[in-house]
Order: sequence, then C-alpha cells, then structure tokens
Amino acid sequence: KGDPRLQGISEAIRVVPHFPKPGIMFQDITTLLLDHKAFKDTVDIFVDRYRDMGISVVAGVEARGFMFGPAIALAIGAKFVPLRKPRKLPVHINSLLAGQLMRCVAFIPLCSSRRPSKNLVVIVLQNPEYAGEVIAESYELEYGTDCLEMHVGAVEPGERAIVIDDLVATGGTLSAAIRLLERMEAEVVECACVIGLREVKVVACLLLVFCVDSAGST
Ligand code: PRP
Repeated sequence: KGDPRLQGISEAIRVVPHFPKPGIMFQDITTLLLDHKAFKDTVDIFVDRYRDMGISVVAGVEARGFMFGPAIALAIGAKFVPLRKPRKLPVHINSLLAGQLMRCVAFIPLCSSRRPSKNLVVIVLQNPEYAGEVIAESYELEYGTDCLEMHVGAVEPGERAIVIDDLVATGGTLSAAIRLLERMEAEVVECACVIGLREVKVVACLLLVFCVDSAGST
C-alpha cells in the first residue's frame, strides 16, 4: 500500500471477464510480463522486502509462481524450489546407475518454418541421484482436489523460505505449499503473491503479502 509502483503494476494486469468460465474475472499476468517496467517493479517490490531477511529458499508454485520466483531468488541470493503439479517431478531411480555420472550424447533435429532443419548436438552430464523422491500435499478445489509435489532434499531443515505465486484466492494452494516445506522442516517466513483478491478467505496461519489488491474476481 502506498508504493508508487503499484498503480503501474495494477494497470499492466489484464482482467478477462468470464474466463475460464462464466462469472470468473480472470487476472491475466501475461500482460504484466510484456511490460518491462511493470514486471521489474513487481520483482523489485519482493526483492526489496526479502533481500535482508536471511531467506535461502524461494519456493514457486506451478505454473505462474515460476514466472516471478526465479527472478526474486536470483536477486536475493537464494535457491529456487519448484512446487509442481502431480507427476511432473522426476522420481525414477535406476539403482544400477545411481551415484554414477552419466554422459549422454543426443542428436536432436530442430525444425523451423523458415530455415532448413539442423541437428543440435546435446551433451548432457547427468547424475541420476538427482532423480529423487517426492512428497505431496493435496488441497481442495471448487470441484475436487489438486496436489503439489516437492523433491525431498530440495530444502534442508532450518532453512528460511518464502512461497511465491501470482494470486491467492482461497489460500488452499499456498497452504499446501507451506505444508510441503514444513514437512522438510523449513521455516516458512511468508507467502507472497502479486495479486490478492478482496474478500479472500485468508488462512489464519499465513502472513500474506499482497502486491496488488484486485477487485471484482472470485
Ligand atoms: C491459480 C493461481 C494460484 C491458485 C490460487 O492456479 O495461479 O496458484 O489458483 O487459488 P487458491 O488460493 O484458491 O488455491 P491454478 O490452480 O489455476 O493452476 P495453474 O497456475 O496451473 O493454472
């Protein structure tokens, strides 16, 4: 509140009526990403707040938390931990290969509509130990449930973490994110979103930092 950057950020967020279904006023942050000043101001507001708070983990919620979280993490000197939707994080461990460094060479054809196809040579150094175990937390949606997953070992006990997303509505997604981090014994210092919806059912245990208050959505 009172930050002169907020108005420009608010104006850069497009509100799309009746998307994805009638009655929903969709808060579209893709237009914010197209506006360099508004995008930078958004990241800077979070960086200003978290730079000196001893944060070593920025956890971002798929998908739109991935658009703000990494920039904030880089600027404050923290690591970025993706909290993903189910079955996106690799969990397969080949016990024969575990612990060995693999060198894979692949030839991948790249096609463009304007240029002839080329082969891209990719050399990958891969340690299969990184394909690890995940933990999951489910949360309620309007109809049904969804789930977030995090790699075990992504955070260490005692690390100070923040959770970043574009928007909070019921708080169910952020609550699942908090539970994941706390199961790994990280300390969740705050959750921060670009857009806070008015009349939101705020979960009592959260300290939510809203960049922009937006009217007229569910
Ligand atoms: C939206 C939004 C938040 C979540 C907030 O994501 O980006 O992550 O809803 O809602 P809540 O506070 O009621 O939990 P969505 O579930 O649409 O997933 P998506 O980003 O993968 O489209």
